This record gives sequence, structure tokens and C-alpha cells, in this order.
Amino acid sequence: MPTTKLIHFYQDKAVVVTGAASGIGLALAHLFAELGCKLALCDIDKKALNEVVKGIESTHPNTELYHSVLDVADEDAWVVFLAETAAALGGINLLINNAGIEGSGQPVWASTTASLKRVMDVNFYGMAYSTKHVLPYLSNEPWAALINVSSIFGLMAPPNTADYCASKFAIRGYTESLKAELALVHPHIQVHLVHPGGINTNITRLEHSQRFKERFLKTEPSALANKIANAVMHNRARIVYGYQSQRARLAARILPLAWLSSLLGKLVKGLGLEDDYHKDHSGFTTRK
Ligand SMILES: NC(=O)c1ccc[n+]([C@@H]2O[C@H](COP(=O)([O-])OP(=O)(O)OC[C@H]3O[C@@H](n4cnc5c(N)ncnc54)[C@H](O)[C@@H]3O)[C@@H](O)[C@H]2O)c1
Repeated sequence: MPTTKLIHFYQDKAVVVTGAASGIGLALAHLFAELGCKLALCDIDKKALNEVVKGIESTHPNTELYHSVLDVADEDAWVVFLAETAAALGGINLLINNAGIEGSGQPVWASTTASLKRVMDVNFYGMAYSTKHVLPYLSNEPWAALINVSSIFGLMAPPNTADYCASKFAIRGYTESLKAELALVHPHIQVHLVHPGGINTNITRLEHSQRFKERFLKTEPSALANKIANAVMHNRARIVYGYQSQRARLAARILPLAWLSSLLGKLVKGLGLEDDYHKDHSGFTTRK
């Protein structure tokens, strides 16, 4: 149950959640509905999004709720979605760039350029388009916050995650720089970076990611959603939470890179595809 303090803080704030149809986004949508917020929810998955909207309408029938199918990688669609959201909810106080996809789960030499581009388009550019176009709305509000979801893979980089890590380190760099900019001109806009550890969601859709899911995705998304809401209320900029996240944070901070790489290699050994690790694989030009 959310505390009275949390409800008092968030009540009537207009909150946008991307990727609201599953996992962390779904948990955030339910939590902010419970806290009495006005909601704008979007996702690329129309059917799942409609189910979430139906669920919130039945559990919290008084919630002002706008929703739309949106591919976060489409910049023009963002401009329209934000204008419609602001018109429907009377402004935007808080936007959570949560939507994201897994990487190829393969080593660099085996993964395709098309997969790398899609991961960057959704995870990085989706966040960047939204951030750029929402700032004018946030700057109009007496209280506003932007939350960008990176990962513990935005703090450290294990094998088979180069595409995903590239997108999550990029979110971190972009957000930290933006935070420094806004501190100069619009300090009332809070900027937060979330680095979840292993959260029990549907992000691992590929067959060969299932062993990773079983081993690491252990924290419930509702626990992370609560942590985020509390941390934002206390204006804590960096939110590191979830299975193995504190270990990852510490290791990234204190270990020399060579030790960290070797440790991460051992930790995820056996989770990759066998074929990608033959010493005599057909070289570094295997797939387009
Ligand atoms: N689950 C974890 O362990 C974990 C760890 C670290 C970071 N994260 C990050 O948390 C965020 C949420 O992931 P999750 O674990 O809840 O995954 P999830 O797959 O359960 O939910 C992601 C949602 O994003 C939506 N989505 C995907 N592509 C989209 C697009 N182009 N436009 C709009 N919506 C899109 C999906 O349809 C889905 O509903 C992601 O950014 C992910 O990288 C997750």
C-alpha cells in the first residue's frame, strides 16, 4: 500500500509512461493510478495496451486516462502524442521513458547490423526524441520530472550484450548531460536515471535468452515501481534497484576494467549460443 505522503505528493500530477503494456511500465501505470495521477499510457502493442487500460478503468474508475499506440522510435509520432496528451490531461508533469527491447543476446561478430539499429532506435532514440519534445511541456509546470530507464548494463557491460549496453550507456550519457544543462536553466525539472537489476518481466522474448531470464530476472516489477516513485519524491537522481544491482554498481565503481570484464565473462558463461563460441567459427563476417 502506498503511503499517505506518496499519495499526497503525486495526486493529480499528469504522468506519461511509455511501454506501459508490460513489465515495469505496467507496474508503474498501476502504481500511479493508485496514487491518484492523471495518466497517459503508450505502447507499440495495441492489444496488450488496451487490456491494461481496461484493467485500470475497472480498478481505478476515476482515473483521467489517455492512451495511444506509439512506436517510440517514430519522432513525428512523439510530437503528436505529446500535444494530444497535454490537451487531454491539461499539461505534463512527469514522463517516464521506460519502453525498451532486449538486444540480440549474441556476441558482436554474430549479431546483425539490423538488430543493432533497431535496439538503438527503440532504446536510445526513443528516449532522445521523447526527451527533446517533452521539455517545453515540463518547463511550463511548477513541478516536473523526467525519468529515463537505463539498466545495470548502463553501468557495466557483460559479453553478448554490446547492442543493448550501447543503448543503455547512451541513455546514461545523454541523461547526465541533460541534467547538467537543466541545472543551469530549469532547475525545477528533476532528471532521474534508473538502473534496474534483474526484474521479472517479459523483456527476454528470444528463445536463447530464457536461461538468462531464469538466472537473473528475479525482482518483481511492482517493487521497482515503488522504489522509483519514492526516489523521485525525494529527488534522488540515480536509482539503482533490483536483483544484483548493488553488486553491479559496486563492481563497476571499484574494479579495474580488465578484472571486471573477466569476472562478467565467467558470470554469464554458458548463457550464450554454443555456435557463436567455436574457436573455429567462420570468422568475423558471419552474418549481415
Ligand atoms: N527486466 C529487466 O530485468 C530490466 C533490467 C534493466 C533495464 N530494463 C529496462 O526496463 C524497461 C522496461 O522493460 P521490461 O523489463 O518491463 O520489458 P517488457 O518487455 O516487459 O516491457 C516493455 C514494453 O515496451 C514495449 N515496447 C517495445 N518496443 C516499443 C516501441 N518501439 N514503442 C513503444 N513501446 C515499445 C513493449 O511492447 C512492452 O510492453 C526497458 O527499457 C528495459 O531495457 C529491464
